[in-house]
Amino acid sequence: MTQSIEKKEKYRYFKPPIFAVAPMMDWTDRHCRVFHRLLSRRALLYTEMVTTGAIIHGDRQRLLGFDASEHPVALQLGGSNPRDLAESAKIGEDFGYDEINMNVGCPSDRVKGGNFGACLMAEPKLVAECVAAMKQAVKIPVTVKCRIGIDDQDPEIALDVLSRAVIAAGADVLIVHARKAWLNGLSPKENRDIPPLDYDRVYRLKAALPDVPISINGGIVTIAAAKAHLDHVDGAMLGRAAYQEPWRLLSVDPELFGEPAPYATMHDAIEALMPYIERELAGGTRLHSITRHLVGAFHGVPGARAFRRYLAEVCTRPGAGTETLREALRTVEPRPAAAMAA
Ligand SMILES: Cc1cc2nc3c(=O)[nH]c(=O)nc-3n(C[C@H](O)[C@H](O)[C@H](O)COP(=O)(O)O)c2cc1C
Repeated sequence: MTQSIEKKEKYRYFKPPIFAVAPMMDWTDRHCRVFHRLLSRRALLYTEMVTTGAIIHGDRQRLLGFDASEHPVALQLGGSNPRDLAESAKIGEDFGYDEINMNVGCPSDRVKGGNFGACLMAEPKLVAECVAAMKQAVKIPVTVKCRIGIDDQDPEIALDVLSRAVIAAGADVLIVHARKAWLNGLSPKENRDIPPLDYDRVYRLKAALPDVPISINGGIVTIAAAKAHLDHVDGAMLGRAAYQEPWRLLSVDPELFGEPAPYATMHDAIEALMPYIERELAGGTRLHSITRHLVGAFHGVPGARAFRRYLAEVCTRPGAGTETLREALRTVEPRPAAAMAA
């Protein structure tokens, strides 16, 4: 009884359902996150992975600065040294992040060379030490994003061992990309498509750890599919679909949380982005750095292609500003998000 009250208290930050946009290098930068926040008040947003080395030795303001509108926003860390992770987590907390997430899923060579990311699936004890060190350093939740296994590991065992180790160390949520990473022979991109998805493995993990919040990731394309996963697990995380088809995010709040979308149309949401763009342009950001995240904003509506062309050809010109973006918007017919659904 006491134990279950303690568990409820421990997990109070993560009342299901959780809906998250995945951490994606080069994609989920702060401009992207500000845009996504205008499409859903409820989505939990993640930074790109930032390595502990970069945080400790690099330009922190550039790496970690974010806009106040982004909350709730989680900082994803890459590293495997408990002391460095603890220091980086504390720096992230002091910057105002709402959650620290540890990357145990990224398969790239660069990451493998540094002994972090997916290869850590083989080192549950070390990952647990990292989590324990971060938990000691910060008050905000510490979460882990992992795979179901790597290479010839048996996911039945590997995922169980890793999950139990990090939960015992204090991890608040597990996010599981429901496929293995094959570290030899596949590129990072292939590792997001080729190893088969096994959602049932993640559902079984939830059944085995009913008190632990668990989010599922991998191959989820529609908000309806995310909702279906929520019958089995506490959260759903979308990566590529959220980025490439951001119009889908406009139905997150109504379909998953029973709340109105922040804006009725993508036009309204992009118009609401204009003050941010003005501020950024005044500070020296080029329009294209922001509008590159809007490429998939419209789908299946008259003018969507012209909009994309405008972004690629006109919004990239030096000196392009909000009026240029408004011109691009005038090429597309305003429609409610639901009308773009496919
Ligand atoms: C361009 C790109 C960059 C990514 N960068 C990261 C990253 O920095 N950290 C991470 O944990 N996963 C990263 N991922 C993986 C995603 O977070 C996610 O796990 C994966 O794309 C599967 O989800 P999806 O099928 O919904 O896209 C990246 C994926 C993409 C497409």
